[in-house]
Parts: sequence; structure tokens; C-alpha cells
Amino acid sequence: MDKIRPKTLFFGKNLIYLPSCQSTNDEAAQLLQQNAAHEGTVVITDNQTAGRGQRGNSWQTTAGQNFTLSIVLKPHLLMATEQFKLNVAISVGIFEFLEPYIGTALKIKWPNDIYVENKKLGGILIENTLQNSRIESSVVGIGLNINQSDFVNLNATSLGQFTGQFYDLDHLLAELLEHLEKNYLLLRNNKFNDLKVKYLHALFRYQETHWFEQNGERFQGSIIGIDNLGKLAIDVQGIKYFDFKEVQFVI
Ligand code: BTN
Repeated sequence: MDKIRPKTLFFGKNLIYLPSCQSTNDEAAQLLQQNAAHEGTVVITDNQTAGRGQRGNSWQTTAGQNFTLSIVLKPHLLMATEQFKLNVAISVGIFEFLEPYIGTALKIKWPNDIYVENKKLGGILIENTLQNSRIESSVVGIGLNINQSDFVNLNATSLGQFTGQFYDLDHLLAELLEHLEKNYLLLRNNKFNDLKVKYLHALFRYQETHWFEQNGERFQGSIIGIDNLGKLAIDVQGIKYFDFKEVQFVI
């Protein structure tokens, strides 16, 4: 895994492979604190023992079968209020990496879950360090289920489970890093609008009428977009904007 040669400028040029660790996000954050991680450094493990997910959840994965990795970035161009733009670039990068294998069943579920049909294949946990009103550094944690076939969580799936194939992780890692860098560079080159078009094109349940839930109450609506802060715009007989914790999809 540490021998891969991605065709990138800086993503994965410094690749730190750990056979086992608690959380690659924690390892990457530690490197940043020690000033030992330049932009594009990747920390990857085969066996993550205390993986962390969104909303304080844990991220569980079978050793040696999936991707659990973190990338150090320094998106100084982003204001603290623009954190969501990095989520968009990373989600789109993962989407473009997986789309050739999965096709139209692949979606990005707002804000940044990777879905195949109605099941979750991957998730992203981005942890930013701010300086004044700007982002000083980011640890982009990515968990993608690739070859795992059994899941305790019925709502989870993997690339291999969907396609019936077995994948070489080294080969896929190089591809993943190339797609991520390409889309990160769009962000750095002020092409956020292009990223947003791609994100909406990939968005789960975009412009379809479905049920949602807020504070235990269900309502029907249709997603019509995201605002610049990353809030989800849903047409509920009039447009309402929802923050990450304010709305759930009924699946
Ligand atoms: C989610 O809840 O959907 C986000 C999951 C993010 C998991 C990844 S695995 C690599 C990195 N290290 C962690 O502890 N979490 C992220």
C-alpha cells in the first residue's frame, strides 16, 4: 500500500501506512500538531480500532477489506463559514472515483454520505482547525466499504457487495487520490460553481418528492438545492433551509 504511485501533484506523495491504529483522523491531527504533515499527506490503516463518524457515532469496519484513511489539507482560501465547500469537493471526488464501477445507483446523500441505492457505502469526517476566520488545516477522514460482504448494520453496503467483484485496494487507492486531488484543485482554483453543479447532479433524492423528519414530525418535500453554507433547501410548499442536525431523511 505504501508503494502506490498515484498520478497526482501532492495527494498521497507522502503516504503513511499503519497496520493498525485507533483512528487515522487522530493520527493525522497529531502529525499536524507536530508540524510533520504537509498538504496531501495521507494516513491509511488496514485495521482502525476506534474509528469516529459524524454526530459522535463510531465507524466500524472489518480489517483489511475497506478504505480507512485521512488526508491532510491546508485550504487557506476558505473562510471558516465556507467549510461546506471542502465537503462538496471531497464528496464529488469520491463520487467520480466510484461512478465508473457503480453507475447511476451511486448518489451523494446530503451532506456527504456515499450511497448506493438506499444503502450507505461510505462516509466522510472532516475536522478543521481555524485561525482567525480562515481554515488553517483540515483532516479529511474517509471510510469507504470496498470488499466487505457482511454488515451488522442492514443499512450498509460495499462496492464489492453491489458489483459481486473483489477489488485490489492498492490499485483503487491510486484512482481515489487522483479523483480527490482533481476536485480539490477545482476548489483551490475558485471553481466552486462547477463543483456544486456536479454535487447536485449526484445528490440523493434531488428534485424528487419524499418524506423527511424534523423533531419527530414527518413532512413531504422535494430537495431543490443547497445554499452557500451547505444548508439543504427543501420545497415544502415554500422553500425551507435545514442545517445538518435539523432534518432526517425517511428511508
Ligand atoms: C460518517 O459518519 O459517515 C463518517 C465516517 C468517517 C470514517 C472515517 S474512516 C477514516 C477516518 N478516521 C476516522 O476515525 N473516521 C474517518
